[in-house]
Amino acid sequence: MLTSTEIRSRFLEFFRKRGHAIIPSAPLVPLNDPSVLFNTAGMQPLVPYLLGEQHPAGVRLVDSQKCVRTNDIDEIGDNTHATFFEMLGNWSLGDYFKNEAIHWSFEFLTSKEEGLGLDPNRLYITVFGGNIDAPKDDETYAIWTKIFEDAEIKGERIYFMTADAKGKEPNWWSAGDSGPCGPDSEMFYDVTGTLNLGMTKEEYMAADDRQDVVEIWNDVFMEYLKEGGKVVGKLKKQNVDTGSGLERVTMVVQGKDNIFDTDLFEPLLSAIKESSTGNWDKKAARIIADHVRTAIFMIADGVVPSNTDQGYILRRLLRRAVGKANGLRLNLKSLSQLVSIVLQKYNGVYPELVLKKEHIEKIISEEETKFLQTLHSGSKELTKLVTHALLSPTVKKPITGQDLFKVFSTHGYPLENSIEEIETVILPALGNLSLSSQYFDKPQVVIDFSGEMKKHQAISRSGSEQKFKGGLADNSEATVRLHTAHHLLLRALQLVLGPDVHQRGSNITPERLRIDFACPQKMTDEQKEEVARIVNEKISEDLPVLKTEMSLEDAEKLGAEHEFGAKYPDRVTVYSVGPASATPENPKLSERFSIEFCGGPHVTHTGILGKFRILKEEASSQGVRRIKAVLE
Ligand code: ALA
Repeated sequence: MLTSTEIRSRFLEFFRKRGHAIIPSAPLVPLNDPSVLFNTAGMQPLVPYLLGEQHPAGVRLVDSQKCVRTNDIDEIGDNTHATFFEMLGNWSLGDYFKNEAIHWSFEFLTSKEEGLGLDPNRLYITVFGGNIDAPKDDETYAIWTKIFEDAEIKGERIYFMTADAKGKEPNWWSAGDSGPCGPDSEMFYDVTGTLNLGMTKEEYMAADDRQDVVEIWNDVFMEYLKEGGKVVGKLKKQNVDTGSGLERVTMVVQGKDNIFDTDLFEPLLSAIKESSTGNWDKKAARIIADHVRTAIFMIADGVVPSNTDQGYILRRLLRRAVGKANGLRLNLKSLSQLVSIVLQKYNGVYPELVLKKEHIEKIISEEETKFLQTLHSGSKELTKLVTHALLSPTVKKPITGQDLFKVFSTHGYPLENSIEEIETVILPALGNLSLSSQYFDKPQVVIDFSGEMKKHQAISRSGSEQKFKGGLADNSEATVRLHTAHHLLLRALQLVLGPDVHQRGSNITPERLRIDFACPQKMTDEQKEEVARIVNEKISEDLPVLKTEMSLEDAEKLGAEHEFGAKYPDRVTVYSVGPASATPENPKLSERFSIEFCGGPHVTHTGILGKFRILKEEASSQGVRRIKAVLE
């Protein structure tokens, strides 16, 4: 049986042999894409190249990209969802198109020698059925039909799909409202092993609803451009963007019906099971495994728990895991004891994990300690509620769902834990007193609690939709100008505060830029003024902004600023600002003002930026400061 490690390396090797350059995964936190908190698909870090920029490694690429998707968070614990996953992808940047892409997908999935050796009789395919933007994809349908005929695979198994009643297109892929997009063809695998004779479309759709067939690969034929939610035309080149989730493909190769039984998760779940001393709850254990694994990858890529953006997501995941671990009464000193089990799986694949092992363990256990303190205060709050419900008739007050929701939202105490604590800890501790249903009406409490929860989710969803919307950088002129100002600012910060100031996070909207950077102290007013003065001076000098391609080694030698924890390919692009006499032919990189590893886009010269002003300097998290600034 192939292990997940073998599957990943077989994929990379299969495409390397077919002319693809293996490129490393970009870090989870996108550096130049202000519209998303984490990379959610393999294509995100490659957007500039899908839009036509030349990639330093060529026109055929293959990778395994680290991704985080939190929109499926409520699904975690089912058979197929995970907040962190690796997306295997092969890429054609204006090179091959449908024919090669589809043939290679089939060959990799079914070849015993070079691929995964999956049974072609269990494969089902969906194809784009056409809409007002693009015609029905007959070419793809014909390619698949021939492949199955040549392999002598019988039965109906290729289906045209069109928009559902809500207008959702099942076979059109785009990462957001703007950017490259196109029709796709998706490959599904029958996990039951009983549907190998083909199915009518209706039967297939019912099988999909039952999760008897699971999507394992998507070939996107990216040749269209979307702007503001509408397809506005074709791209300069026809690209292929493919994506196959390593967790799911491992699941079908290893003959499992869920990702948690694969070798990627199994050691972690066994450790959780062995240390559990409470009532066994499979879903809770899966949530702990998923969230701890995701937290490890986030921390390795520079995220620390906080109350905003990436840090907030990390905090939520860790706290949920701690809550679930409490429920299972895990006999562990800390969830950080699980870190080394996860790291073993990625030995040699993501070296940043091993390098940061101690840092990861420290962050997890610190956050856990903080959260356990809030849980403790939650328990005190519950005791207060119980005492009030037990008091003399004049001050008696029933415990309501709203009360328990308040304990949840202020102390992070989940409903089931609250009820359990009241019944099995607090009441026995008060001398085995009991509460009549008049003062603790459990079914009503549950209904009221979930009513509060729904209200709360409606509010937070409209907030998070803003954050997760889209996958593409907003390349509006205002954003591009702020992006260049961002480079000037980082350099000015280094000149004023010292060379150890490095970026820890960034977010740019058309209105303002935001940078998080490592720095132990608050900045003084004089320092802030000096930083703004330097940025404005560089703007008034109207310095050229140049893009240069070079070897990783040369870029490192020049001291190009790069992202914390990132791995880069052998050839990279850097953006440099200044000197005034620099030209694309002779960028004079040793004399530049700033130089950064960056995918762009940028303005061509600083004179058009306008006046730079710092709005705010504040703490972002331990040892990290945050600046918000504008161009006026
Ligand atoms: N970008 C495509 C996906 O994520 C391959 O499904």
